[in-house]
Amino acid sequence: MTILVTGSASGIGAALMERIGREAVGLDRHSADFVCDLSNPAEITAVAASIKAPLSGIAHVAGLPGTADAEAIVAVNLRAPMVLTKALLPKLSPGSAIIAVSSVTALRCDWAMEQLDALIDGGAAPVMEGARAYELSKAALNRWAMRQAVELRGQQIRVNTVSPGPVETPILADFEASIGKDRIAAAAQKVGRHAAPADIADVIAFLLSDNARWINGTDVKADGGYHAVRAVEG
Ligand code: NAI
Repeated sequence: MTILVTGSASGIGAALMERIGREAVGLDRHSADFVCDLSNPAEITAVAASIKAPLSGIAHVAGLPGTADAEAIVAVNLRAPMVLTKALLPKLSPGSAIIAVSSVTALRCDWAMEQLDALIDGGAAPVMEGARAYELSKAALNRWAMRQAVELRGQQIRVNTVSPGPVETPILADFEASIGKDRIAAAAQKVGRHAAPADIADVIAFLLSDNARWINGTDVKADGGYHAVRAVEG
């Protein structure tokens, strides 16, 4: 069976491709089995039609950081997983799993659940700076994944998110620019280091596997304990 990994050309997605091995097929805007610009819904629908059934999982890993344009961030981080999942749903077998890579920064989004629902259901995002759009895109992604878990439970398809803290990938420099170098460095100080891409890929691979068969509709924080340290020690 086949697992589709978006963002497969770099960072966490590339590590996940390696971790899954022969069952994995990659999708990215370059250097991938399926080349597609995830900011373009028409391209997503077209590429989805060319992906063969059956699939046993989708890992939505591709993402844009807060240094990008707000509209593009919402398109790639939120709308693309929604459009791609909808298009591929008929090709997913019972027992499949869908994972979306979110971020611990989703916790910083102060939008109410009703506002997130309105955005998910097609509402326009207000004009905002990239860092805020990033937090919003990931908070809405978590909410969408939870809603999908409820909607798809009858089809035996599980849906979960993984929220990493800082990970040593090419976009870490963008996060330093949009979130602040000090805050990113403080996270590593508290837990000893940043995550390696494989630290996150292993969590995604577990959630995709049957070993995680009773985990559904949840967000798994993978930050090496950073938020626990902050909650306990301040
Ligand atoms: P990365 O930059 O190494 O990989 C992201 C991949 O997404 C790239 O291969 C890129 O080509 C692809 N991508 C971006 N826009 C695309 C588009 N329009 N169409 C198709 N593909 C596109 O970054 P990384 O760190 O591996 O990021 C993976 C996910 O992890 C993202 O969703 C990111 O938000 C999330 N994340 C990363 C953290 C970090 O510190 N690196 C922390 C928390 C979450």
